[in-house]
Amino acid sequence: MTVTLNYTPEIAAATAPLYAKVDRIIPAFEWPVFAPKVVAINALKKERDAIILAHNYQTPEIYHCVADFVGDSLALARKGASVDASVIVMAGVHFMAETTKLLNPEKIVLIPDMKAGCSLAESITGADIRRMRELHPGAPVVTYVNTSAEVKAESDICCTSGNAVEVVESLGVDKVIFLPDEYLAAHVATQTDVEIIPWTTGHCEVHERFSGAEVEQYRKDVEGLIVLAHPECPPDVLDAADFVGSTAGMANYVKDVQPERVLMMTECSMSDNVSAENPNVEFVKPCNLCPHMKRITLDNILTSLETLEPRVEIDPDIAARARVAVERMVAVG
Ligand code: 13P
Ligand code: SF4
Repeated sequence: MTVTLNYTPEIAAATAPLYAKVDRIIPAFEWPVFAPKVVAINALKKERDAIILAHNYQTPEIYHCVADFVGDSLALARKGASVDASVIVMAGVHFMAETTKLLNPEKIVLIPDMKAGCSLAESITGADIRRMRELHPGAPVVTYVNTSAEVKAESDICCTSGNAVEVVESLGVDKVIFLPDEYLAAHVATQTDVEIIPWTTGHCEVHERFSGAEVEQYRKDVEGLIVLAHPECPPDVLDAADFVGSTAGMANYVKDVQPERVLMMTECSMSDNVSAENPNVEFVKPCNLCPHMKRITLDNILTSLETLEPRVEIDPDIAARARVAVERMVAVG
């Protein structure tokens, strides 16, 4: 296929309906840079029998203009389990692409930048889990999906921020080891009677930078502000928030409640993506970017579709064990 990346009148006309979706958040002078790539990606997807799954933290031109399915980690994992296409492009981070590959071993799963990692996934290894099991014999291990396949392979079941309490309670035990996010573990402990044994050195480098004092300052500065927070934030942020939920939980809150003014204590692009769909809600936007999510761009999605690289591959022995933990999670609820 010959890819033309000029902003021609034909491309302007063909992309006008897409631009109408994002014109409140992408300035008109930037659209000519994005539009030809959007057209090229959408055409190549058909040629390759490919689908793009995008996380809520992707930039608006990816989220609104080339993604076939968007959502939080749980929705992406569920969708990944039932996709028909032969090629799946993960516009997200590496652990999300690995989860998709675990559920689709026979499909080509692409991640446009292999270095799109996650500070939580980096915080723990399979050997750490084996040590935790020795320290707490008999306690099952519940592992946040923000981990490598090697770590999932040592786990009993996975969870996301959207189903953590449900997963913990599904095991029918008095105590569980919950890792690697210390703050998510602390939040889950406030929502259940099951004893939570946390791993204390795992944090999200984006959410750990927020503070309760910052929330209080925003409340003083902005009248009638509703504060939503992701459970990867420190406990003082969650205590100061009106609602705590996964990225999808926060997006649904805005859609259903239509607050006059809202602050989302989470990654920057999320507010842009949700604000495009909720024109009557005013967003206060603190900007903490996830450098890993931001490695994915229209340029590398296009290259990835052209070359069908880089592909996510997982050692078959690790994959077989990790798949059990992910499938058990998908089966809950
Ligand atoms: P969600 O599962 O809530 O989308 O969160 C994923 C993530 O990486 C948050 O930092
Ligand atoms: Fe990982 Fe935090 Fe980025 Fe989510 S926002 S991918 S938890 S570093």
